[in-house]
Amino acid sequence: IPVDPFDLVIFGATGDLARRKILPGLFRRFCSGQMPDDARIIGAARTEMSDDEFRDMVRDAIREFGGGAYEDDALDGFLLHLGYEHIDAKGDDGWEALKRRLRDGLVRAFYFSVAPSLFGSLAERLRGFGLADDESRVVVEKPFGKDLESARALNRTLAEHFHETQIYRIDHYLGKETVQNLMAVRFGNMLFEPLWNAQYIDHIQITVAETVSVGGRGSYYDQSGAMRDMVQNHLMQLLCLIAMEPPARFEPDSVRDEKLKVIRALDPVDYHHIVRGQYASDDNQPGYRAHVDNPRSVTESFVALKCHISNWRWAGTPFYLRTGKMLKGRASEIAVVFKDAPHSIFGPDAGTHRNVLAIRLQPNEGMTLDVTIKEPGPGGMRLKDVALDMSFADALGPDAEDVPDAYERLIMDVIRGNQTLFMRGDEVEAAWNWTDPIIEGWTRRGEVPKPYEPGSSGPEDALMLMHRDGRRWREIKV
Ligand code: BG6
Repeated sequence: IPVDPFDLVIFGATGDLARRKILPGLFRRFCSGQMPDDARIIGAARTEMSDDEFRDMVRDAIREFGGGAYEDDALDGFLLHLGYEHIDAKGDDGWEALKRRLRDGLVRAFYFSVAPSLFGSLAERLRGFGLADDESRVVVEKPFGKDLESARALNRTLAEHFHETQIYRIDHYLGKETVQNLMAVRFGNMLFEPLWNAQYIDHIQITVAETVSVGGRGSYYDQSGAMRDMVQNHLMQLLCLIAMEPPARFEPDSVRDEKLKVIRALDPVDYHHIVRGQYASDDNQPGYRAHVDNPRSVTESFVALKCHISNWRWAGTPFYLRTGKMLKGRASEIAVVFKDAPHSIFGPDAGTHRNVLAIRLQPNEGMTLDVTIKEPGPGGMRLKDVALDMSFADALGPDAEDVPDAYERLIMDVIRGNQTLFMRGDEVEAAWNWTDPIIEGWTRRGEVPKPYEPGSSGPEDALMLMHRDGRRWREIKV
């Protein structure tokens, strides 16, 4: 079903994110028939360019990053929706011309795909030149600040010009199909929710493992590290969805209120319960420090930590989070590990067994439920865990193929005016409030991350973090 007609202005339209994600994503929605005939996308950036030059740039970007087969005719059709205006984000140039391109009575959205230092001047000019009104929407990207203070300042700046209901803060993890499936699994089934608490759950593990290095993003990443780049936002969002109370409705503030309560209930993390790592070099490749061109860098490319949520549902159940680059596999997974049965009627020889519900977020999206059954054969009542394994691709067939990727879905939600999958200002601030003391502690103690081998599961100490508690991480699949 097509969304309403819209004018979407992308500031920073010549940048990496626009070329890799935003524009190819819009193209795929166009191919799926979701973009109405009179939708218009206007690129805006510092570079001087004609409409045709911009279309050529977008054509190249889609050929490189569009992913999948499409007809050239479709691409030509999409490009007709595009235009370009050169603007000076900090001056007056180009704003009147950009305004003339906008049409009245349609949804108007402005995507800030630029450094956060420009948010203020863009917002001010959108209002000052009369491009935006109280109905317009603005979309902003991470990093949303680097600590609580800077996030507050950004929120204040945006709030000077826009209401919270107009601000769409993207965390692209919330746009992922399987991340939304977390809510469907929890709140669409009777089976899990009655057991979803500290009484039945031993612990929960959240892993977002990547095989990529910091690539060409060294200068950003070295200022940020895995804590700011991944934990404060993506892992925190996963934690919220897995731990929150059932919202009354699947509506923006119902969902965001519940997520906020989780973040606010998080205990400060004991520094003995965090392991930081940094990938070393090996025979085949340079290590982190060479990648970021900083031989003395003490920024982490890996974090593992244990945390607790102090509320009735979760008191006593630890949550273990880990994420890192250059690990042995690309695997994002949430594993809910249930407690042992309170008493074994089969005696000690049957061994101890546990139910584990593992939700694979990417790749090979799906779910596995380990169930304990009898080992086949005449050997008496010996038990064994087997997996009920469901891959969404197999279970859903062709329906699983045309799912929009995270950016596609989120941009369409902006046009629809649905903020459910976007972070509210107070959520972002609460998340920084929790991560700030962790990062400050590292700095104060002059902590240096532990080196780990590329292609491993991270530093040895991360394994110890769980071993000490008599638990272990699930294997990262290669
Ligand atoms: C981004 C981080 O937000 O998420 C990157 O800045 C990271 O460092 C990426 O690689 C991971 O996203 P995905 O969708 O590939 O899991």
